Amino acid sequence: MRDNVFLRPVMGRCIGTTRFFRNEPLLKALVHILDKIPHPRVLFHGCSNGAEAYSLAIAWCETGDGKPIDIHATDIEPSFLDQGRLLTHERLTARAREMVTFLPPVSVVDFRSRQFYDATVCTNVLCYLEPRDQREAIARIADYTTYYMCVTAADPTAVRQAMRHANFKPCLTNWLSIYYGWSERLSWRHRKVWKLPYLPFLLPNWRYAGTTLFRRDVPGDLEVESA
Ligand SMILES: C[S@@+](CC[C@H](N)C(=O)[O-])C[C@H]1O[C@@H](n2cnc3c(N)ncnc32)[C@H](O)[C@@H]1O
Repeated sequence: MRDNVFLRPVMGRCIGTTRFFRNEPLLKALVHILDKIPHPRVLFHGCSNGAEAYSLAIAWCETGDGKPIDIHATDIEPSFLDQGRLLTHERLTARAREMVTFLPPVSVVDFRSRQFYDATVCTNVLCYLEPRDQREAIARIADYTTYYMCVTAADPTAVRQAMRHANFKPCLTNWLSIYYGWSERLSWRHRKVWKLPYLPFLLPNWRYAGTTLFRRDVPGDLEVESA
């Protein structure tokens, strides 16, 4: 499997377009912030066949010092998760594969957890939901996410309202590299919610719709350092 090949599992109305190392700057930022946590726990919603989750495991193994990480991944479509268990990549070692656990299929709106995750990733998923459900999903994610949330491809107003309500703020360090990291979504005609204008400031609520990484707002806390 080459890194630049898009994987496109399809089942009924679910399309799981994804790719290994889809957004390298975001991956780098995640590894950087998680590295400060002794034994991080990460959850991926709408993970499709798991390429994103495996990419984090690969990057963690290749750059880290052997510290453990627990990566959970789920999607609404069961067959995508079945594909994920069999997915291969030349850099996906047995150790990296063991770091990823596929949870039972579930919608991001319905998922509940008693365990906390240091970071929850929900990229290119909320665009399949109505804005009201997008707000609900972000509120639910905030219930079990300690520090970071990754959200992109959602209604800009819904994201701003829900993030503010949940007390999460946009991380603006490296946000532009992460923005342009969604290269296949860039467009001069950004009519669909998941399309991104080449000039991010054209987005309504660009601080919320232009960035992908959000951090729980703790009074007196510093912005995440540069990755
Ligand atoms: C475009 S793919 C994105 C895959 C991956 N997150 C990425 O960014 O590369 C969207 C995925 O979201 C899943 N999905 C759609 N609605 C969902 C929902 N309500 N809850 C969880 N996953 C959902 C689809 O099955 C599909 O796998």
